[in-house]
Amino acid sequence: MSSSGISYIIIFFFIFIIPYIQSQPIAPPPTNETSPVNLTAVLESGHQFTTFIRLLNTTQVGFQVSVQLNSSDQGMTVFAPTDNAFNNLKPGTLNSLTYQRQIQLILYHIIPKYYPLSDLLLASNPVRTQATGQEGGVFGLNFTGQGQINEVNISTGVVETRITNILRQKFPLSVYVVDKVLLPEELFGTKTTTPTGAPAPKTLPSSDADSPAIDEDDHKSAGSSVKRTSRLGIVLGCAWFCCSVMSF
Ligand SMILES: *[C@@H]1O[C@H](CO)[C@@H](O)[C@H](O)[C@H]1NC(C)=O
Ligand SMILES: *[C@@H]1O[C@H](CO)[C@@H](O)[C@H](O)[C@H]1NC(C)=O
Ligand SMILES: *[C@@H]1O[C@H](CO)[C@@H](O)[C@H](O)[C@H]1NC(C)=O
Ligand SMILES: *[C@@H]1O[C@H](CO)[C@@H](O)[C@H](O)[C@H]1NC(C)=O
Ligand SMILES: *[C@@H]1O[C@H](CO)[C@@H](O)[C@H](O)[C@H]1NC(C)=O
Ligand SMILES: *[C@@H]1O[C@H](CO)[C@@H](O)[C@H](O)[C@H]1NC(C)=O
Repeated sequence: MSSSGISYIIIFFFIFIIPYIQSQPIAPPPTNETSPVNLTAVLESGHQFTTFIRLLNTTQVGFQVSVQLNSSDQGMTVFAPTDNAFNNLKPGTLNSLTYQRQIQLILYHIIPKYYPLSDLLLASNPVRTQATGQEGGVFGLNFTGQGQINEVNISTGVVETRITNILRQKFPLSVYVVDKVLLPEELFGTKTTTPTGAPAPKTLPSSDADSPAIDEDDHKSAGSSVKRTSRLGIVLGCAWFCCSVMSF
């Protein structure tokens, strides 16, 4: 066969075969979690959160969380007080709260963003919670501690405690165990001007659910496109190499 015949075969190869190979999937697509994350199931696995589970249910915050986990790309962070934590409250603490304030109390245990443990210490205090903005309140949480030894203290202004355990730490949901109920200053601080018996506002918490989006680098899709580009580079490089060899 003449060398020009071989050249035609090579050219054919590059024009038709390479694009075909390129069009094939490079890697299996990332497997998404098939079923939506179920906060109740996560808490049930911990065996000491029956009161918190019950309150999530009665306030319907649990339902709101499941909707938001499914629709938001920010994820969520939940601080789960143990049953002991609720038992250690002053008697009547929960019952003295109106329904609306029970909702606020539970929303205060949720941050509308996924934080791995060490990232909590990087967030700027006070960190906004799902209750932030309710009745114009800050409802913020302060985190201090040392990332190296996984020590994270939480302060509400009324309560000081620390994260004692990690129930789940995987996007989109992290669940951390606390052994005190996080009592917000807005409801339990000495400076509160509104008595707990005041009539509850009629606004539903769900109207406040869409928190402002926090800008974040979109590094989810970056990885695969980088791989694709470098792969293309290798193929083009081979083509260039082969062509220059053939031209001799
Ligand atoms: C996986 O999730 C991404 C976004 O998070 C979505 O674009 C993609 O369609 C999902 N894939 C499957 C198979 O559900
Ligand atoms: C979540 O898990 C709980 C307990 O395992 C179960 O009762 C409930 O039906 C689940 N919810 C969804 C939406 O799957
Ligand atoms: C949640 O509340 C509903 C009524 O609103 C009740 O039927 C259901 O059994 C409760 N679920 C749990 C796990 O407490
Ligand atoms: C999650 O959202 C998708 C659409 O974004 C919807 O089809 C699906 O039913 C939702 N799942 C749950 C459990 O809400
Ligand atoms: C965290 O709290 C513990 C007591 O619970 C205290 O000894 C420690 O110094 C605190 N650490 C920080 C960084 O606040
Ligand atoms: C929380 O942190 C902010 C900023 O550092 C500070 O101004 C505020 O007093 C702190 N609140 C509590 C309750 O520690």
